[in-house]
Amino acid sequence: MGVTGGIAAYKTAELTRLLRVEGAEVRVAMTEAAMQFVGALTFQALSGNPVHTQLLDAQTEAGMGHISLARWADLILIAPASADFIARLRAGFASDLLSALCLARTCPLAIAPAMNQAMWKHPATQENVARLTDWGVQILGPAQGSLACGEEGPGRMLEPSVLLQHLAGLSGSGVLTGLSVLISAGPTREPLDPVRYLSNRSSGKMGLAIALAALRAGAKVGLVHGPIALKPPRCHEQIQVESAQEMHRAVLERAAAYDIYIGAAAVADYTPMQYSSQKIKKTDDKLSIPLSKTADILAAVAQIAPPPFTVGFAAESEDLENYARGKLQNKKLDMIAANAIGNDNTGFNSDTNALSVFWQDGSIVLPLASKTRIAEQLINLIAQRFHAKNSTQTS
Ligand code: PMT
Repeated sequence: MGVTGGIAAYKTAELTRLLRVEGAEVRVAMTEAAMQFVGALTFQALSGNPVHTQLLDAQTEAGMGHISLARWADLILIAPASADFIARLRAGFASDLLSALCLARTCPLAIAPAMNQAMWKHPATQENVARLTDWGVQILGPAQGSLACGEEGPGRMLEPSVLLQHLAGLSGSGVLTGLSVLISAGPTREPLDPVRYLSNRSSGKMGLAIALAALRAGAKVGLVHGPIALKPPRCHEQIQVESAQEMHRAVLERAAAYDIYIGAAAVADYTPMQYSSQKIKKTDDKLSIPLSKTADILAAVAQIAPPPFTVGFAAESEDLENYARGKLQNKKLDMIAANAIGNDNTGFNSDTNALSVFWQDGSIVLPLASKTRIAEQLINLIAQRFHAKNSTQTS
């Protein structure tokens, strides 16, 4: 745990306690500025280990020096990460212990920014954060709300319990390290007239959970999503679209450059044949709207030569296995994840899901769990099948 100068350092004390309760071994490194806010003794008591504060201290270098400390960690979290420290990270400084640890590390690095909202929004900070993301650093937060300086906006450090959840996945399996994954998520909207559209109940929760799980597994992630209320995780590439046609274009323009495509979006199967540029008036008792079939994005991705490892979803209200296996064959997919719809616990807009996953010569059931957990399991499975397919092709 790296602690830098910020009032949110008091929350990191609680996070340290929670991590110990979860069974983690925690060692804390603090900057000079951090110690102005919370004393090293607090972290020593909560972590059960001496706190590291100096880069060149003869005594600590003889025991656990900065290189061994960097090697010891499975994961480094900087919380709070001040604007100044983020800039130092981006510049690759090693003039204090914490910066040197981050530079010498081989494990995943996550930062939980906390600062004044204007500092967070400043292009310098935003550029620094974007660069760190490119390097695979996980950016956790900040949250929106009232800040210690009295202003409102983005800049609050995430709460310890929320950080704990993120960390659970972050120590990361690394099963997709070096691979790229393109994910579609959410609904599409098919415009009828200037005020109306046809859409569906997809919230984007499943697709976003998959994007997060893929990031945590070390993948470079592209996300193409329809209109959703949720904030997506920070991906390497993120494209918001509206209609099925726009989603088709956005996915097909990119899919060949990715190793894996996962179609979790609920794409409209039909779209109005005509868009009325004026609001459709309430005149007749009945109104018929002719619809035409949309192009199938998933099937088109599977036909790219050579195709990415292509994973579809199937949302079914009956005969789950037959319909899912039918889509697996007809669309020439590598894998399909089927979820039941029509109940509160699975499928559209629920926080939980259960999947029956099928591939050519196998299947597995992922029983009811949070979409976060289901996404982790699905990503592990996809990684296994991807590597199995590639090893057969190369042998
Ligand atoms: O977003 P949430 O609220 O979390 O809900 C998650 C979900 C239920 C939307 C998700 O788990 C899911 O099942 N997504 C697929 C929904 C769907 O459209 O299923 P389908 O059986 O109609 O389509 C089969 C597959 O073809 C899907 O991968 C779909 O993305 C794809 N498809 C469909 C039509 C089309 N024109 N192009 C496509 O690529």
